[in-house]
Amino acid sequence: MLKIGVFDSGLGGLTIVQAISQIVQNAEIYYVADTLNAPYGDKTPHQILQYSIDITNHLITNHDIDTLIVACNTATSWSISHLRELYPSLIIIGTEPGIKPAIEVSSSGKIGVLATLATLKGEKYQRLADRLSVDRDIEIYQQACPSLVEQIEKGDIESEQTRKLLEDWLKPMSDSGVDTVVLGCTHYPLIAHIIEDIMPKGINIIDTREAISKHLLYLSTKRGHINSGKLDIYIETTGEIKVDIIDMIISDYRSINFITISTHNS
Ligand code: DGL
Repeated sequence: MLKIGVFDSGLGGLTIVQAISQIVQNAEIYYVADTLNAPYGDKTPHQILQYSIDITNHLITNHDIDTLIVACNTATSWSISHLRELYPSLIIIGTEPGIKPAIEVSSSGKIGVLATLATLKGEKYQRLADRLSVDRDIEIYQQACPSLVEQIEKGDIESEQTRKLLEDWLKPMSDSGVDTVVLGCTHYPLIAHIIEDIMPKGINIIDTREAISKHLLYLSTKRGHINSGKLDIYIETTGEIKVDIIDMIISDYRSINFITISTHNS
């Protein structure tokens, strides 16, 4: 049976768990929502790396995971290469803004990327954006969305305030003919319907949940995983969490437990 550890700063990574649950069986998923330290988007690279290492150690020690999904673009940006070095025997899959699939579906060649400031500042994102926009006539409009993760964590999804923030960030994109918006944060699928409502009709919205789930199934099958049986999901949180939003994202999980994660200096 596969033992999959998944983590994010909060609720966002559950959008990936939901996608995994559509295609993966014969597995246990241990999801850590690090709400005590959320949002990651305004933390330093060093802090983000430390949280990622501490959570991975927790998942290995307490749940004996063989696979790790970094269900957070921000944490992927600043920690994935270190995690791969530190834990060579784990299958490790990160989350990155889906610029490549966006280029494939865009007709105007104008692509918007919404993400946290920490993701957009990361070398990993910059390299990806530069590499993919160089070949074709592609223009990328990137927008950091400070406080959006907090709004979502508070359950403040349908409020005027959340809509106003999005309207202001999306205006330069719609004015410039952006036809494809990349959700560069795993929390943002939860507000995708508002983006769709604000942007001109026919907008493409891209996230990488399905691709991550298929990649997980591909890598684990290569290691001998038999994809038949049940899937159990356990949720752990380091701080407060909105259970009604969890229920909105996934219907079927076994437990929600409060945990304390100890820090080891890296
Ligand atoms: N879901 C995280 C991401 O994908 C949110 C980061 C944050 O906590 O600011 O980037």
